[in-house]
Amino acid sequence: MTMQNFTIAIDGPAAAGKGTLSRQIAEAYGFHHLDTGLTYRATAKALLDTGLPLDDEIIAEKIAREVELGGLDRDILSKHEIGEAASKIAVMPSVRRALVEAQRRFSEKQPGTVLDGRDIGTVVCPQAPVKLYVTASPEVRARRRYDEIVGRGGPADYAEIFEDVKRRDERDMGRADSPLKPAGDAHLLDTSEMSIEAAFQAAKSIIDAALNRNT
Ligand code: DC
Repeated sequence: MTMQNFTIAIDGPAAAGKGTLSRQIAEAYGFHHLDTGLTYRATAKALLDTGLPLDDEIIAEKIAREVELGGLDRDILSKHEIGEAASKIAVMPSVRRALVEAQRRFSEKQPGTVLDGRDIGTVVCPQAPVKLYVTASPEVRARRRYDEIVGRGGPADYAEIFEDVKRRDERDMGRADSPLKPAGDAHLLDTSEMSIEAAFQAAKSIIDAALNRNT
C-alpha cells in the first residue's frame, strides 16, 4: 500500500503572514513547501527581463510553461515591480492553467506538502484535508510591509503602501478566473491581533486534528 500524501492549502491576501506561517508549518511537519506566488512572479520576471509584453496571453502562457519550480529565488522575485506585473498576468486563464498543472504535480510529493497562494483551497488542491485562509486588516498588512521595508533599511511611505495593498486586493479578489476567496471548508485565521507564534499554534492544532483523523 502506498502512503497517502498530506496536503495543507494556505490562502490569503498579500502580506497577511501566510508565507512565514507556511514555511514554519512545512519545517515543523517535514513537508515540502511551495509559495505559488513565486511561480506567477517568475513568469512575470521572465517577461520583464526579455522585454516581452505583459498583455499577450499566448506569450505569457509559453513562458509560464517553462518556469522551473526548483529554481525560484524569493529574494530576487520579491521586488515590488515584479509583484505588480505578476498580479497582472495572474488574470490570464491560460497562464493560470499552466502554473496550476505544475503546482498540482508538486502537491503530490511525499510525505506531504504545504502550498500557499490565492486559489489553493478553491482550485489547485480542493481535496486538501487542511485548508487555512489567513487574513489581516489592510491597515495591519500595510503596516507589516512598511516595517519590513524600513527594517531592511529601505525608504517607505505608509500611505502609498496602504493604497497598494488595497489595489492588489481588488485585483486578486475581483478577477473572473480563480478570484481570491476562502474555500467553503477553510479555517479562517485572522492574524490582525496575533503574534506569529500564536498564529502557528492555532494552525498546528487544526493540522494535528486533521492528521489524527487521517490515521
Ligand atoms: O503572493 P504574491 O504577492 O507573491 O503573489 C503575486 C501575485 O500572484 C498576486 O498578486 C496574485 C498572483 N497569485 C495568484 O493569482 N494565485 C496564486 N496562487 C498565487 C499568486
